[in-house]
Amino acid sequence: MPATRQRLYINVDHVATLRQARRGSEPDPLEAARVCEAAGADGITAHLREDRRHVQDSDVRGLRKVIKTYFNLELACVPEMLAIALATKPEQVTLVPERREEVTTEGGLDLAHDPGRIRAAIEELRSAGIRASLFIDPTADSVERSCDLGCDAVELHTGRYSHAPEERARLDELRHAAERAAALGIAVHAGHGLSIANVRPVSAIAEIEELNIGHSIVSRALFVGLRAAVAEMKEAMRSARMFDVAPPPP
Ligand code: PXP
Repeated sequence: MPATRQRLYINVDHVATLRQARRGSEPDPLEAARVCEAAGADGITAHLREDRRHVQDSDVRGLRKVIKTYFNLELACVPEMLAIALATKPEQVTLVPERREEVTTEGGLDLAHDPGRIRAAIEELRSAGIRASLFIDPTADSVERSCDLGCDAVELHTGRYSHAPEERARLDELRHAAERAAALGIAVHAGHGLSIANVRPVSAIAEIEELNIGHSIVSRALFVGLRAAVAEMKEAMRSARMFDVAPPPP
């Protein structure tokens, strides 16, 4: 039986993507955050990209005010973004790699390149009382480097698994990375490309405490509504974790 209750954080980026299609005011990611929390989300995640393609600076300030659960802000490890994090004070920052031409975050952080910069960012965040997580590829090397850098948590990139959930090796690499991180005493999160169809085997990995899921929930919400889409995901996690997940409210 998994020891830690697993949390679901909903990434509201793609609510902002839809709004930015018209550069208007709807749909509002702040309203989405409220609905997700009412539906049982344990936290809200948003990625302020350097190109501001979806979430805007004003969304980050607004989310900080409306989120009652837990705010996980995803950012590139650059001075501009770190200054925003320190001013916003989310409960957690997840440092992610960013390339302007990518459609989405395609891989984990390159921890071999300029580790001093990542270490300094972690120290700055932690001394401001912000939990620091690193979005990494699910390999033992990435986990060990992350631990050396002094982070509180790693978020394992589930993109490779999500593209081929039937391939046993993809799930095994997540499991092994999660076990290694837990053995080193760092918290384990996971996310990217997870959906109601592929979430259960990942959710069942005992060491994974937190899932960050966005695109599939916002997509599903078009057909069943956001509240139902969040509740469905929680139920899928609960069944995979033998109910070690807080139930969605009635
Ligand atoms: N975790 C991180 C670090 C991400 O960058 C993303 C995508 O922005 C997600 C989770 C959520 O991925 P998806 O939208 O595919 O569920």
